[in-house]
Amino acid sequence: MTARTALVTGGIGGIGTAICRHLAQAGHKVATNYRDEAKARAWRDAQKSEGFDFAIVPGDVSDTTSAEAMVKAAEDLIGGIDILVNNAGITRDTTFHKMTALQWQEVINTNLNSCFNVTRPIIDGMRNRKWGRIIQISSINGQKGQYGQANYAASKAGMHGFTISLAQENAKFGITVNTVSPGYVLTEMVRAVPEDVRAKIAAQIPVGRLGEPDEIAYAVGFLADERASWITGANLSINGGHYMGW
Ligand code: CAA
Repeated sequence: MTARTALVTGGIGGIGTAICRHLAQAGHKVATNYRDEAKARAWRDAQKSEGFDFAIVPGDVSDTTSAEAMVKAAEDLIGGIDILVNNAGITRDTTFHKMTALQWQEVINTNLNSCFNVTRPIIDGMRNRKWGRIIQISSINGQKGQYGQANYAASKAGMHGFTISLAQENAKFGITVNTVSPGYVLTEMVRAVPEDVRAKIAAQIPVGRLGEPDEIAYAVGFLADERASWITGANLSINGGHYMGW
């Protein structure tokens, strides 16, 4: 196994933390970004007490200049990025007829424009080194749509359009580009959905429960592996059977 470097955006969140730990367990050096320094330091110290050593760098993925500085800071700490996981994301759920321009823009900037902001400063290094893994964390709701999520579903569907174009442009450079589309996973984001709505959604999942962050991280680790070199442009659904479109 070759030790690589990985940048996981939003690594402090529920799915992000599981991804960071999984990649570290595979022997890679892992960095993530933060906007709240105190929270990030507390997270890093807690991870350290469990044997995980993560690099943390400031950066707002929704802002082009900030993301560029963030990538540079991460590369200064762990070296040129080999594995990029575009994981940072937010929701601003509301039905479209009530949605404000700010709710639309915040979600598109954080979930979709971030893919440009973070990947653009990293891609040249991957192409020069002739190896890379880029993984977008999208969502089941980018595949099937969701009542109250026109902004979020648009951003998440857009991420896969980004994946399949980048996959074509970079295939010759040893770079694979894939999307993972999680269903409803037990994280703060899903806990924020009103209890009655969440119960109805959970009842639609054939496996009979919400997902665990580790069940998403496992797939990210699989796609980041050296041996996943012929998988590119894929969209891997991990949702307990909630949506089986293809
Ligand atoms: N299908 C049909 N009708 C629905 C519906 C659905 N899925 N959901 C709600 N409605 C209906 C209600 O029954 C209600 O109808 P009546 O007025 O006739 O009683 C009406 O919509 C309520 O509409 P409002 O405009 O008043 O909406 P609201 O302000 O009460 O809130 C909402 C609506 C914000 C969409 C709320 O239902 C909600 O939070 N839903 C969950 C959205 C969701 O799944 N978010 C995922 C977050 S987690 C995540 O995003 C991670 C991931 O990737 C999976």
